[in-house]
Amino acid sequence: MEIFKNHSLKQFNTFGIEATAGCFAELQNSDDLEKLLKQEEFSGQKKLILGGGSNVLFTDDFPGLVIHINTQGISIVGENGDDVMIEAQAGVEWHKLVLHTIELGLGGLENLSLIPGNVGAAPIQNIGAYGTEQKDCFESLTAVNLASGEIKKFSKKECRFGYRDSIFKNEFKDQFLILSVTYRLSRKPVFILGYGAVASELARMQVKEINSRAVSEAVCNIRRSKLPDPVLICNAGSFFKNPVVSAAHYLRLREKYPKIVAFETDDGNYKLAAGWLIEHLGFKGLRRGDAGVCATQALVLVNYGRAAGKDILALAHEIMNAVEKAFGVSLQPEVNIIGNDG
Ligand code: FAD
Ligand code: EPU
Repeated sequence: MEIFKNHSLKQFNTFGIEATAGCFAELQNSDDLEKLLKQEEFSGQKKLILGGGSNVLFTDDFPGLVIHINTQGISIVGENGDDVMIEAQAGVEWHKLVLHTIELGLGGLENLSLIPGNVGAAPIQNIGAYGTEQKDCFESLTAVNLASGEIKKFSKKECRFGYRDSIFKNEFKDQFLILSVTYRLSRKPVFILGYGAVASELARMQVKEINSRAVSEAVCNIRRSKLPDPVLICNAGSFFKNPVVSAAHYLRLREKYPKIVAFETDDGNYKLAAGWLIEHLGFKGLRRGDAGVCATQALVLVNYGRAAGKDILALAHEIMNAVEKAFGVSLQPEVNIIGNDG
């Protein structure tokens, strides 16, 4: 395995930020990892695991070791009645896994079609879209402890999944490298069509028989119409999480802003559409140099070319301050900020 010094990360983050890694290694298999972790040179160094780089913002160079995951392989590891267990290595592109399971006639991941990035990152923020989250099909994962080299299997319960959250963003932040993830999929799935425009898109497509492939195609169509393609315009998806507020707070806001968009959560709180809050304050389409707010989706910040990570972060802070002032709501970044301000 080759190790590169002072390696550019520009091609490895979808925000297209120019930042440098002190050292950079690409992991093709777990033997490489064992060798890498044993090297004296890296024992005391900070380490950053990078998959597709679609949920990170570099605000500085990273002085330590960046481990880019490129391990491949998808296999069936168990069956139980109509359930089939599929294990994917961390470097597999997420959407490839989704398409592979659809090819096998399995359902469960179709609503998560076209989410950028790799399998190894999916449990980190418990990726979600169109009424489902990866936790709904999650069975287990294996990960290596970066300090001890020990390999541990995590059950669903141990991962403590929440809305864009898991134990790997909290107590175990930056401590484990996820090697593989196993999902429990079904030959007889129940489709979730009630969220957003999924049902109406299926109707528009004149789908006769609802199956995983049709739902996946509908989700892909909606996503392509709403979200900017990072290949064409650099971004990392939603920059902020949708904030959750108490029912009382929501009712106060609704009185003042009757058009505010919100969804009741299972515990009686309200999840506000942050895109609406940001758009309402006039930020949609705003540009500060090469840092901007997407013109079609206010929750997405974009780099028009030469913005630095700090420029994007400054715009994010401007938005957070304005939202706090107007609505008394504290926006939390969903994107992982990597640098001294992160
Ligand atoms: P990276 O950006 O490389 O890493 C993200 C974090 O995970 C970092 O902290 C990194 O250190 C850590 N990490 C990565 N791999 C590993 C590993 N193997 N072991 C341990 N830690 C690891 N997200 C959603 O939830 N829903 C969406 O609908 C959605 N839509 C998006 C649309 C666009 C256009 C874009 C650009 C992003 C979108 N995202 C969405 C965010 C992003 O796709 C997900 O967060 C995805 O899981 C990131 O995968 P990645 O491989 O690119 O992770
Ligand atoms: N809205 C506006 N203006 C905007 C954007 C949105 O008013 O500029 C309002 C609209 O009323 C819209 C509502 O917000 O109906 C919700 O918007 P949308 O359906 O686009 O979803 P979102 O809440 O902005 C979330 C996720 C996305 C995920 C979609 C679909 C978060 C932080 N984001 O976005 O995930 O794809 O729902 O499920 O939860 C990501 O995490 O990176 C991501 C893209």
